[in-house]
Amino acid sequence: MSYEPPAPEPSPGGGDLLALRARVLAEVRKVVVGQEATLDALLLAVSVGGHVLLEGVPGVAKTLLASALARALGVDFRRAQFTPDMLPSDLTGTLTLRAGELAFRPGPVFTNVLLADEINRTPPKTQAALLEAMQEGQVTVDGESHPLPDPFLVVATQNPIEYEGTYPLPEAQLDRFLMKVDVGYPDEAGEFAMLGLAHRGTAPSTLDDVQPVAGVAELRAVRALVDATRVTPEVAAYLLRVVRATRELPSVAVGASPRAAVHLLAVSKAAARLAGRDFVTPDDVSAVVTPTLRHRLVLRPEAELERFRPDDAVANAVQLVPVPR
Ligand SMILES: Nc1ncnc2c1ncn2[C@@H]1O[C@H](COP(=O)(O)OP(=O)(O)OP(=O)(O)O)[C@@H](O)[C@H]1O
Ligand SMILES: [Mg+2]
Repeated sequence: MSYEPPAPEPSPGGGDLLALRARVLAEVRKVVVGQEATLDALLLAVSVGGHVLLEGVPGVAKTLLASALARALGVDFRRAQFTPDMLPSDLTGTLTLRAGELAFRPGPVFTNVLLADEINRTPPKTQAALLEAMQEGQVTVDGESHPLPDPFLVVATQNPIEYEGTYPLPEAQLDRFLMKVDVGYPDEAGEFAMLGLAHRGTAPSTLDDVQPVAGVAELRAVRALVDATRVTPEVAAYLLRVVRATRELPSVAVGASPRAAVHLLAVSKAAARLAGRDFVTPDDVSAVVTPTLRHRLVLRPEAELERFRPDDAVANAVQLVPVPR
């Protein structure tokens, strides 16, 4: 029994995630020091058609990394700065009168990579418009649906500090994100190397040097190859037990959803390809389980008071499940 129909392998040169990573990394390196884990998470998301939430304190290159990646991928890229006065239509588009006729003018969401910057600074209505686009792959304006381009990847950023005037994303909507990546500080050597990068004033002067090294066709080929990655029933059962274990933990009020299991399987397959394999091992699952599940768990207030974190809960769930060999 296999969990996916075997898809035809794309021709050599198309769809190799490892080769794509090497090329993308060489470009992104020109402007970003370190942050490989974040970059890998973004590549995993691209290769399964999922969306990523980047969380980190100001100034750790969330925006810079997303911009550099989008450039390197060679696909259409838009950035939307989320503000308190942003309306859903500022994102999705509006009907405008053109030569006496109502015509749809697409908003910035009609792109391949959308950088949704500081998503928690906009009120829930506009957040909901984005999350709906992410879920449906289309937007509806005035009763008419408009399909989004393929691939469509949202890279949303948010600050973990809940300042006044921020609107934390509702937990239920966080489940739409494939992964949540905590972007941390670079180590000292990395931060020192960063100072050596070329700057124009305070801005990196080399973002224009980042060359497109992929494209829509290659990203689709990668996705097809990832889809064709094999998963044994044993490994699928292991993955599912981990997901289900999150629902039994005393520290957790709401555990991971069935959607989380689907997402975890997809990310594990991509992780296998990133490791140069065409089958998933339990190690692939454990390598991606934390960023894939952490944002979907709602902890009990007592656990939060004890500074227990979602990452701890994921680790506990993993420990509860014997690894198949
Ligand atoms: N790892 C890094 N490599 C290279 N430059 C970096 C790195 N981290 C920070 N910088 C520098 O810091 C600047 C700020 O980065 P960026 O605007 O991407 O941060 P951010 O995480 O999006 O912050 P905010 O939350 O305020 O939006 C960059 O333009 C760059 O000069
Ligand atoms: Mg930013």
